[in-house]
Amino acid sequence: MTTERAEQDTVAFEVRDGVAWVKFNRPEKRNCMSPKLNRQMLRVITDLEFRDDVGVLVLSGEGTAWSAGMDLKEYFRETEAQGLGAIRQAQREAYAWWERLRWYQKVTIAMVNGWCFGGGYGPLFACDLAFCADDAQFGLSEINWGILPGGGATKVATELMPMRKAMYHALLGENLKGPQAEAAGLVNESVPADKLEERVTEVAQNLLRKNLATLKATKDAVRRVREMTYGNAEDYLIRAQEALSWHDKSEGRLEGMKQFLDDKTYKPGLGEYDKSEAASAGD
Ligand code: COA
Repeated sequence: MTTERAEQDTVAFEVRDGVAWVKFNRPEKRNCMSPKLNRQMLRVITDLEFRDDVGVLVLSGEGTAWSAGMDLKEYFRETEAQGLGAIRQAQREAYAWWERLRWYQKVTIAMVNGWCFGGGYGPLFACDLAFCADDAQFGLSEINWGILPGGGATKVATELMPMRKAMYHALLGENLKGPQAEAAGLVNESVPADKLEERVTEVAQNLLRKNLATLKATKDAVRRVREMTYGNAEDYLIRAQEALSWHDKSEGRLEGMKQFLDDKTYKPGLGEYDKSEAASAGD
């Protein structure tokens, strides 16, 4: 591609069977994140967040990359040439959509189809679950071009990996292939490339059978309690459940108990209650 991609074309998406399939869409630049892409991504995910036909969001990349990290030309060199204000603006635009994704209303899945470098760890961590192709490659390449892993990447590595692995990963700048990334904790599972979409679809469809309000409360709880003392976590979880009981207009908790205790139509230890039987589809 010789002409520059328009801002609205840097992200692609479609909604199918309850799932929003969102793609980094700069394959010719290995989906590296430019200010344009960052702005467009925030717009796209914001528009999708509360749509009734979206229950799960999957983030993948067009072409051979998931994302080759920050755009060295447009995100770093060109903004640095404009001074501190432009640098901060570009950082805010990137961090804004990663943060939105971390606390997204719907469960989010990173479907890592190829390269995932540096700044790409921001959205990788922001997604609640992550699946990759066996031939995908993950790297903190910053060390190779003279910067530290910023934009949250160091934090992500230490959140997801044990300290020795994170340190080696950051200092050596060697890439991890899919199965190694799974072993290190960067992703839930690595699967053959031709099975990746099938596996992610299966997980997404399994999620869609659950109570969506409960999924939101649960994903937030998992992220929040990691930073709390045990006592604070106990208290937070009581409050979060009470808030959920108020927010969940389908009264899923009561329905779940009824179908198990009274109707005896399912066992919570073996699967979810039937949402279609619930009082309303308010979740
Ligand atoms: N920033 C800016 N441009 C990038 C980029 C990035 N992070 N990653 C790729 N590109 C551009 C290349 O400059 C090239 O542009 P051109 O066609 O105008 O020359 C184009 O994308 C294709 O990249 P290329 O290197 O030819 O593709 P490849 O498939 O041979 O290699 C990578 C893929 C990802 C291994 C390689 O592009 C790379 O190392 N990218 C940088 C990764 C990185 O360190 N990211 C961390 C940023 S924090």
